[in-house]
Formats: sequence, structure tokens, C-alpha cells
Amino acid sequence: ADAKPFAGRHLLVTSGPTHEPIDPVRYLANRSSGKQGHAIAAAAARAGARVTLVSGPVILPDPPGVTVVRVETARAMLAAVEAALPADVAVFAAAVADWRPAAETDEKIKKGTEGPPPLRLVENPDILATVAQRREGRPPLVVGFAAETASVLDHARAKIARKGCDLIVANDVSAAGGVMGGDRNTVHLIGRDGSVETWPTLDKDEVARRLVARLADLAGTPPE
Ligand code: C5P
Repeated sequence: ADAKPFAGRHLLVTSGPTHEPIDPVRYLANRSSGKQGHAIAAAAARAGARVTLVSGPVILPDPPGVTVVRVETARAMLAAVEAALPADVAVFAAAVADWRPAAETDEKIKKGTEGPPPLRLVENPDILATVAQRREGRPPLVVGFAAETASVLDHARAKIARKGCDLIVANDVSAAGGVMGGDRNTVHLIGRDGSVETWPTLDKDEVARRLVARLADLAGTPPE
């Protein structure tokens, strides 16, 4: 029989990009496919966890045995995450848009004679930091991702402190690596103490399987 190291646990995973509306037909987005986050949710379900997957717009099928909550914007993702708590482990794999247009218009913006309209941006809530820094109801194990194109490890070390999470999974998303949208990933696990563990380049499914096994170890045995 399969080992079910996560039986009796609730895992919360975010995945995919967010879409930030400019007007009813246009939005800001990014190249995240959701493959890594969805693979983590699927692996956690196979490991016996109850899994809530809060996903931005993706073209992937829902992973079997997982409760999927679909959202579009960063603000909706934060609300869905907070509604899904409490969780024993939270993994923030979504590529949340850092900014959104300051004003969403109800009408499509028309091409006019004044030239292109200004696009003013405001900051989105940081979902990972919000959850990791909760005074009450913080999941005992909070995992962030760091998608970087340069100085991957330095940025990840700074991020773990700034966000207040327990573990960062850092990956290099430079265009040359083909990670965004691709099927394989090269990740580094960075701990709060600054420790770094580099994994070989693996299928995203295998990264998910190994990560879930590690998280089950770190989470320990569930209380009776
Ligand atoms: O700061 P940066 O975007 O590089 O941080 C990446 C990590 O933070 C990822 O785990 C991502 O899911 C999370 N994040 C978030 N909400 C944001 C921005 C990032 O949860 N608004």
C-alpha cells in the first residue's frame, strides 16, 4: 500500500498566475502555467492530505481528490486563502501579480485622440507574507516560492526573512531555462537558517513528490 504520511492533515496550496483587470476585456498577467503548484496539490492528496488548491486562471485539469477554488485576482486569492484556513501546511506557489491597475473601468477603454491612456498601478496584497505573519491561525509550516532570474539564492535568503516563512523553494525562471510553462524545474530549498539544498533538474511532478515527502517530515506526526 502507498504510504500516507499526510493523512489527517490539511494542506493549502496556491497556484497559477493572477489576472488583474484593466477594463472588462483587458488584464495584466504573467507566464505562470500553474504546473508546479498543481503538481504539489496532487502529490499532497496522494500522500493522504486533505488539500485545498486556490488557483488563478490556468488551463490545467483539477488534480484528483483536491478541493479547487478558482480565482482571478490577487485580492480574491487572498480572500480564498483566508477562508480556507486553518491549515497544517501552506505552500504559496502562485505567481501573484505584484501590482494591479489602480482603477478598473466598467467600460472598455476606447482608443482616443489623446494617445495611449496612462496605466497607473498599485501594489497588491502579499498573500504569503500576510499568512506567514498572522498572529493567530498561522499554519505551523509556511512555504514560499522564489522565481528569480538572477542571484537566485541571495534573493531567496532575503525573501525568507522579509516574508516570515519557514522554507523557500527557489527556482531560476530565466527565459533560457524554460521553467515557466515547461515541465521540468531546478530548485533550491532554502531554510530559515540560510541552509541551501540544491536538487537536480527534475520533472515538476517529481519535484512535487519530493517536496511533499519533505514537508510531511517537517510537519511531523499529526496529533491524535
Ligand atoms: O516577492 P515575490 O513575488 O518574489 O515572492 C514570491 C513568493 O511570494 C511566492 O511564494 C508567491 O506565491 C508569494 N506571493 C504572494 N503574494 C504576492 C506576491 C508573492 O503570495 N502578492
